[in-house]
Amino acid sequence: MRCKNLVSIADLEREDIDELFALTAEMKEAGKKDATDICLAGKTLGMIFEKSSMRTRVSFEVAMTQMGGHAIYLTKHDINLGERESIKDVSKVLSRFVDCIAIRTYDHETVTALAENSSVPVINALSDYTHPCQALTDLYTIKEKIGSLDNVKVAYVGDGNNVARSLAYLCAKLKVSYAVSSPVNYELSAEFLEALENNVNGKDSYIKLIGDPRDAVKDADIIYTDTWISMGEEEEAETRRKDFQDFQVNSELISYAKNGVFVMHCLPAHRGEEITDDVIDGVNSIVYDQAENRLHVQKALLKLLINK
Ligand code: CP
Ligand code: NVA
Repeated sequence: MRCKNLVSIADLEREDIDELFALTAEMKEAGKKDATDICLAGKTLGMIFEKSSMRTRVSFEVAMTQMGGHAIYLTKHDINLGERESIKDVSKVLSRFVDCIAIRTYDHETVTALAENSSVPVINALSDYTHPCQALTDLYTIKEKIGSLDNVKVAYVGDGNNVARSLAYLCAKLKVSYAVSSPVNYELSAEFLEALENNVNGKDSYIKLIGDPRDAVKDADIIYTDTWISMGEEEEAETRRKDFQDFQVNSELISYAKNGVFVMHCLPAHRGEEITDDVIDGVNSIVYDQAENRLHVQKALLKLLINK
């Protein structure tokens, strides 16, 4: 992997993603046989979490343990980033202690500032802008389930948020068709699409915004959704629940898709809001395999970034 950090999918070239996916498959296989290489013995991951997390925090920590290393969990109360001391000083000092830093925060600029000042790799564990570890896991999971990413069509139904953005970047890089259906005012923004076009030439052949979710899912192999109310948007909850009511992934929407369409969700799910119980628990759902793959993908990512 040529990049030092994973701040966003924009940092990765196609070859990096192929390398990551190949190593993920190897590490997943080794993990099943309890034969994980102790390749990060003596290494430490510093994990700064300014927002809640279950999957990301646990999968990173378990990944380090399984590879013989260690992870330190630092909450807002521990280091009080930017208030007790500057992001620059935290980054400069923390990177003298640890071998890699993962950060989950609000402003994407906090991640970029940390990365700019760090002497060790920085991984974005979710910002308001993007969630690259999730997107990598999602496309890895799709490849694993379908066997290839050739001609795959993903339909994302819901908020044009951090998860939708990182998926857009990764789909464009991997030439996977990605239809996004969001309520008016919640679409991927023109500014975002322009930035994407500047990073990935010809993204227009892959990324489509489609108003009606029934049209978006028609030819899809994957239907993907995420919460209507992301962390930090709690004050908008009431308005958002009204605005998104026609964008629920339920059995009626699934009936417009192909038989055997896979349903994905990054989790945590808000059952009865963006997805119904029968769909998330039903035969189309692959959400728990998707969640498990966070561990395997991040093991490969840590190994590639730390053991350069
Ligand atoms: N999908 C995901 O990142 O989950 P957590 O918020 O629990 O980490
Ligand atoms: N869009 C969600 C993703 C959670 C993993 C959020 O930012 O809260």
